[in-house]
Amino acid sequence: MRKKVIAGNWKMNNDIVQTTELINGLKSLIVSANAEVIVCPPYTSLATAQQLLVNSSIKLGAQDVSLYDNGAYTGEVSVSMLKSVGCSYVIVGHSERRQYHHETNEIINQKAKKVLAGGMLPIICVGETLEEREKNITDQVLTTQVKGVLAGLSAVDVERSIVAYEPVWAIGTGKTATKEQAEEAHKVIRNVITQLYSTAVSEKVVIQYGGSVKGDNAKELLSQPNIDGALVGGACLKADSFASIITAA
Ligand code: PGA
Repeated sequence: MRKKVIAGNWKMNNDIVQTTELINGLKSLIVSANAEVIVCPPYTSLATAQQLLVNSSIKLGAQDVSLYDNGAYTGEVSVSMLKSVGCSYVIVGHSERRQYHHETNEIINQKAKKVLAGGMLPIICVGETLEEREKNITDQVLTTQVKGVLAGLSAVDVERSIVAYEPVWAIGTGKTATKEQAEEAHKVIRNVITQLYSTAVSEKVVIQYGGSVKGDNAKELLSQPNIDGALVGGACLKADSFASIITAA
């Protein structure tokens, strides 16, 4: 049985004061969660969040990482820096990184490898655009992305990694994939992993759904056999709405 994993991607939201309020709110609301819970604040809030999460089961994640270890890369943050501030997870390849920072499957693959080598776990995002869905090429797009982002990863590393299926048209739009659409896409992703590795490996991989997940749609999405969690944007910015998704899991 795969564990449900609920991650909150804060994106570019919350200063230190807001971070403190949100983390304290979450801690009081989710005392005993069955799911694994991860929060991914912006870089500037990681140290504060880490301190507030001491003795909590909530895990800390980052939203991105540099491809480089150190040096003259203005504005970038390395794997070892994230590890030292207490991160256990790093989101790589979010569609906003693909769109605004031209990240390719190759770059995302390299970042995932770096995260794993640095002793953390990647949450690797894939997902089709609206145009691709309308052209009926969702399966091919997902297949290419999954093969690209996992290239050269060992079976052991893939088993530990999280894949997030995030249809781009559902992110921040209020449009959620139906449970059937999401389950179908998750099956495609799991089948590609089976082809690349084995059933034993693909059955272990946690595949999250992301795209306008809220308290009122979380339960039906998370009850699908291949949906093992959620990557939540907008609804993770309020402690009670994030907690309602965690409760649904
Ligand atoms: P959303 O974002 O929940 O606001 O749609 C999801 C995501 O980008 O991970």
